[in-house]
Amino acid sequence: MTGLPSRRTFLGLAGVSAAAIALGTGAPAHASTPGGEDVPADPFKLGVASGDPEPDGFVLWTRLAPEPLAADGHGGMPRRPFDVHYEVAEDPQFSRVVRRGHAVASPDLAHSVHPEVNGLRPGREYFYRFRAGRSISPVGRTRTAPARDDQAPSLSFAVASCQAWYHGHFTAYRHMAAEDIDLVFFVGDYIYEYAINSVNLWREGVQLDKVHDAEVRTLEQYRLRYALFKSDPHLQAVHARAPWVSTWDDHEVQNNYDHAGQGVTPEDFDRRRAVAYRAYYENMPLRRTSLPHGPDMTLYRRLHWGRLADINVLDTRQYRVPEKSILGARQEKWLHNGLRSSSATWNVLAQQVVMAQIDRDTGPGQTFSDDQWDGFRAERERLLALRTPNLVVLTGDIHRHVAAELKADFNDPASATIGTELVAGSIGSDGDGAPRDAYTDLWLSNPHVKFYDGRRGYLLGRMTPERLTSEYKVVDYIRRDDRAPVATAARFVTTAGRPGLEAL
Ligand SMILES: [Fe+2]
Repeated sequence: MTGLPSRRTFLGLAGVSAAAIALGTGAPAHASTPGGEDVPADPFKLGVASGDPEPDGFVLWTRLAPEPLAADGHGGMPRRPFDVHYEVAEDPQFSRVVRRGHAVASPDLAHSVHPEVNGLRPGREYFYRFRAGRSISPVGRTRTAPARDDQAPSLSFAVASCQAWYHGHFTAYRHMAAEDIDLVFFVGDYIYEYAINSVNLWREGVQLDKVHDAEVRTLEQYRLRYALFKSDPHLQAVHARAPWVSTWDDHEVQNNYDHAGQGVTPEDFDRRRAVAYRAYYENMPLRRTSLPHGPDMTLYRRLHWGRLADINVLDTRQYRVPEKSILGARQEKWLHNGLRSSSATWNVLAQQVVMAQIDRDTGPGQTFSDDQWDGFRAERERLLALRTPNLVVLTGDIHRHVAAELKADFNDPASATIGTELVAGSIGSDGDGAPRDAYTDLWLSNPHVKFYDGRRGYLLGRMTPERLTSEYKVVDYIRRDDRAPVATAARFVTTAGRPGLEAL
C-alpha cells in the first residue's frame, strides 16, 4: 500500500476520551492508560479483522502476538495490559479519518481487542488499522451494511469452512482474497483440536515443534492452536479484505462434542468448553454480546443487509439435546420469530451441518446421519413448514461442495421445493481432493442433491433483488504448495420467488 501517512500522524493522536475506550474484557474502563512504548516490536503478526457489519458500524479485531507460536499461548507478550489504538478512515491512505479510539489488550483475553465502531454512514467501505507502541498494523478493509430501509442492489459474499491448517495450504483463501466481496461467512471448524504430527501434517514445506503434537484441551493450547492457524498469510489477507460473519462447529471444542465417547464427565467437558469458547472469542471479530460466560457463549444472532437479506447466524452445537433438538428451544423460537416477521427478499441461514435429507443407504432402506439435521427431523419439519420466502441455507462441515434443494417431502421428488442449500467445501480439511470421490454416487442418489464436488475451495454468492448466483470455486491440490489456480466447478441461479437451483 502506498501513500500511507507518516508514523508521526498516527503517533500524534490527541488523548482519547474514556467513552472512546472499548474494552475487549467487559471489565470497567481503566482510568490510567497502560504501558505504551514498551510494547514488543512487531506485535501484529496475527493480522487484523473486522466483523458483523451494521448500518452504522462494525467490530474490529486484533491480537498482539510478536511471537505467535510461543508455547505458553501468550504470543510473546508480557503479562500485563497494553493500549491499542485504532483509526477508521474512508480511504486506504487514511487522509480522511472518521474515527479514532483505543482499547485495552489484556492478558486475560490473550491481548486481543474487539473495539466496536459506530456512528458511521451506511453502505460504505472503510479502512482501519491499529497501533501498539511504535508498531502500526496492516490496513484492513471493511464496510457498513446498507440502511435498514434501503433496497440494497446487491450482496456479494464468500462462504468458507473447515480449515485444517495441517492438511494443506490455504490456496482457496489466496484466491478468495482477490474476490470482490462484501462479506465472508465462516460456518465452522476454524481450528481442529487434534494432535498434529507426521501422520496428519500434509502441508508440505513446514516443520512443527513437538508442542503441537497433543490434543488441544487447555486455554494455553487453544490459544496456541489459533495462533498457528492464523499465521497463514492468505487467511490473514481474507480477514483484512472484508468483514467476517463467523460461527463455529464442533472442532473449535472437540469432534462432535463427543465427551461421553471419550469417557469425559460432563463437568470436565464444561471446563474444556469454557476455555475453548474463551479462546474462540479471543480470536474472532465478535461483538461483546458474544463474550463467553464460562461454558456459555451467545453466538446466534441476526444481521440485515437493507431490505435485500436477513441473515440468521445459527449455533447448532451448543444447545443440542441428542435426538431431541439441534437448536435448543430458545434459539428455535428466536429463529422462527425472525423468519415469520422478516420482510427481506432473501432469508439466509448461516449454519454448520447439512439440512437436506441425505439417505446414506443406496438400497431400498434409509440410513441417516444423527450429527446433521437428519438427526432432528421434527425440528427440520417445523422450520421448513414456515415456508419462509427465498430461504437460503449456507452450510459447511462435510468438506465437500454440495448444492441441494430443500423439499416439503424429501422422499417425494415431486413435492414442493421450499428452499436452497449451498454447502461450501473445505478450505483445507482432507487435503487434496478430487471432483469425484467415494461418496459422490451416494450423495447424488438423493434426487434433491444437484451437485457434488470433492475438491477444496469456497462458495461465491451474489444476491440481487431478482436472483442469487452461486459459484463453486475449487483448487486441484493444496498439499504441495499454495500455487494451484482456481476454477469454477459449477454455477447455479436461484430466482427470487422460485426456490431451488438452475444450473448455468
Ligand atoms: Fe470440518
